[in-house]
Amino acid sequence: MQISKTVSELNHYLDFERGKGLSIGFVPTMGALHEGHLSLVRQALRECNKVVCSIFVNPTQFNDAKDLAQYPRMPDADMAMLKESGCNTVFLPEVAEIYSSGEALLDIDFGQLETTMEGFYRPGHFTGVATVVDKLFQIVRPFKAYFGEKDFQQLAVIRRMAQLRSHSIDIVGCPTLREKDGLAMSSRNLLLSPDQRRASPLIFSALNEAGKMLQQESFSVVKRWIIEKINANSFLKVQYFDIVHPDTLASVKDDEHPKEARGCIAVLTEGPRLIDNVAYHLQ
Ligand code: PAJ
Repeated sequence: MQISKTVSELNHYLDFERGKGLSIGFVPTMGALHEGHLSLVRQALRECNKVVCSIFVNPTQFNDAKDLAQYPRMPDADMAMLKESGCNTVFLPEVAEIYSSGEALLDIDFGQLETTMEGFYRPGHFTGVATVVDKLFQIVRPFKAYFGEKDFQQLAVIRRMAQLRSHSIDIVGCPTLREKDGLAMSSRNLLLSPDQRRASPLIFSALNEAGKMLQQESFSVVKRWIIEKINANSFLKVQYFDIVHPDTLASVKDDEHPKEARGCIAVLTEGPRLIDNVAYHLQ
């Protein structure tokens, strides 16, 4: 597995591969890798000739300095997992390699995609995500790039950014990998206390239960139910739950009858904040 710390090293290698007519698949991450990340790498390996994974804890997407400082970093374990997965190259830039002196953030108005849910509670977060992914796309110039549906709103923002910035890259959304008890895999799960970890499967089970209720009950009744259900657990507190149209992320209203909707949730613990989402197929 080839490791590049600078843009020029990476391009030296990628230009050589591109010269042979090989397609490049790209998996951007912030490290502290788990099976969810590796599932993106494996999908990329099935669909592209060479796969690049980047590990970069992007400071501009953290609106909370404590969250940035506490974000888990474990480069040695990450390298071992990537090597094992068959990944061809890892891009491990320093902050100065990506953000040389005081560049501006991307100035894109994502409209509702960035003002609702995660965007509302983490102002500026998606501008930071879009900025770094735009830069990484320009550096790596992949054929396809892989993102998890775990971060459903991020996927929508990246699709929009790629369209507005004319990146002719196929953006591939991949299913959420979960622990056996249903908790969506996340690097932040490492920060859960044993009590918080034991409480956390309630999030996915309530999201699924809500899906069943939607066959009978209105969206607003189900929204109230899920908040009460999760908040009844003393280790969890719902920050938001919404049932949205999957493309616009607009809240579904009680008098609407979409065939597909997405239940999206953020839950606060005294430790990390957890997000999850599921697809609802409605009649
Ligand atoms: P990170 O949280 O490291 O996630 C990297 C990629 O892995 C994202 O596309 C994310 O949606 C996906 N992922 C995370 N958990 C997953 C799971 N349980 N199942 C499937 N995929 C999962 O998301 C970011 O980093 C950053 O915002 C980034 C896009 C790299 C920009 O800095």
